[in-house]
Amino acid sequence: MPGRRRSGRLLGAAAALAAAGAAAFWLATAPRRPDPALTAGLQGDAARGALVFRVGGCAACHAAPGAEPAERPVLSGGRRFVTPFGTFTAPNVSPHPEAGIGAWSLQDFAAAMLRGVGRDGRHLYPAFPYVSYARMTPQDVADLWAWMRALPPSDSRPPGHDLPFPFNIRRGLGLWKLLALDPSWVVDVPADDALAMRGRYLVEGPGHCAECHTPRNALGVLDRARWLQGAPNPDGPGVVPDITPGPKGIGGWSEEDIAWYLESGFTPDYDSVGGSMAEVVRNLSGLPKEDLRAIAAYLKAVPPSP
Ligand code: HEC
Ligand code: HEC
Repeated sequence: MPGRRRSGRLLGAAAALAAAGAAAFWLATAPRRPDPALTAGLQGDAARGALVFRVGGCAACHAAPGAEPAERPVLSGGRRFVTPFGTFTAPNVSPHPEAGIGAWSLQDFAAAMLRGVGRDGRHLYPAFPYVSYARMTPQDVADLWAWMRALPPSDSRPPGHDLPFPFNIRRGLGLWKLLALDPSWVVDVPADDALAMRGRYLVEGPGHCAECHTPRNALGVLDRARWLQGAPNPDGPGVVPDITPGPKGIGGWSEEDIAWYLESGFTPDYDSVGGSMAEVVRNLSGLPKEDLRAIAAYLKAVPPSP
C-alpha cells in the first residue's frame, strides 16, 4: 500500500522537523555567557566602582532587610520580594567565598550583570534587574566588581526562592529572555548631545529607572512604547509616577528642578521624596552634579506620555 507508506514517510518527516525545531528552540533559549574577551585584562577601579554601585542601587536589594545605610554595606541578602510569580529572596553577594560570590571571577560577574547567567551556568531571574544592567560598559562592570570585592564578607545563607511550578524551572526563563533581554537603547538622543547621552546611559543602564517607572506587558516585559510613563507600585498600593515630559508627568519641571530633586529629594512644590524613591535619591545624591544634570537632560528628551 504505497499511500500508507507515503503518509508514514510524511509523518516521519514532520516528526523530524518538529524535533529539529525543538532542538533549535532549546539551543536558542540556552543560557549564554558573554565573550570572555569583553572583560579580559580590564583593571577595575574600586573608587569609580563605588559610584556605579550607587547608581545601580545594589544595596537596596542585597543589604540585610532593615540594615542601616552604610559607606561599605554588608550584602548578606535576605530581602524578600513578593511578586505575581512567587516570592524571591535576594542572595548573599558579599565577597564571602562560600556563602557569597567571593570565589567568582570578573567573567562570572559579567555573565550575571550583562546576560543574567549565574556562575553555575543557569538563567537568573529578572527580579535581579539585569535587563537594564545589560547596557553597562565592560569597564563599569570591572570597576563595580573591584568595589564589590572591597565590601565586608558575610557568612549568612538566606533561604532560596519560594516559587510555584512552572516558575521554579529556571530553564524556562530562556524564552522570556529572548523577548525581554534587548540591550539596544530605547530613546533616540542626538549623538552630539553628550550630556543627554550620558543621562541615557545612566537611566537605561545601571540606574534601571524603567524597572519601576515603565509599565510591563502581560508577559512582564518592559513596554518600550510607554517608556517611563508610570506603573503600578511593585512594593504595595499606589503607583510609581510618570516621569516623562508629558502633562501627567514632570513636563512642568525644569532641568534644574529635576537635578535638584535627585540630589535633595525636594520637588519644585517642596514635597519631599517618599517610598522606594527615597533610597534611590540617597544613592544619587552622592554622584557628581554633572551626572544628575545628565539624567535631567535625558528625561527632557524622553517622548512625552499622551
Ligand atoms: C530589585 C532588587 C535587586 C537589585 C537592585 C539588584 N539585585 Fe542582584 N539580585 C536580586 C535577586 C532577587 C537575585 C536572585 C536572582 C536569581 O536567583 O536568579 C539577584 C542576584 C544577583 C547576583 C547573582 C548571585 C548568585 O548567587 O547567582 C549577583 C552577582 C547580583 N545580584 C549582583 C547585583 C549587583 C552588583 C547589583 C547592583 C548593580 C544588584 N545585584 C542589584 C535582586 C536585586
Ligand atoms: C525602586 C523603584 C524606583 C526606581 C529604581 C526609581 N524610581 Fe523614581 N520613583 C519611584 C517612586 C515610588 C516615586 C514616587 C516617590 C514619592 O511618592 O515621593 C518616584 C518618583 C520619581 C520622581 C518624581 C516624580 C514626581 O512626580 O514626583 C522622579 C523625577 C524620579 N522618580 C526619577 C527617577 C530616576 C531618574 C530613576 C533612575 C535613576 C528612578 N526614578 C528610579 C520609584 C523608583
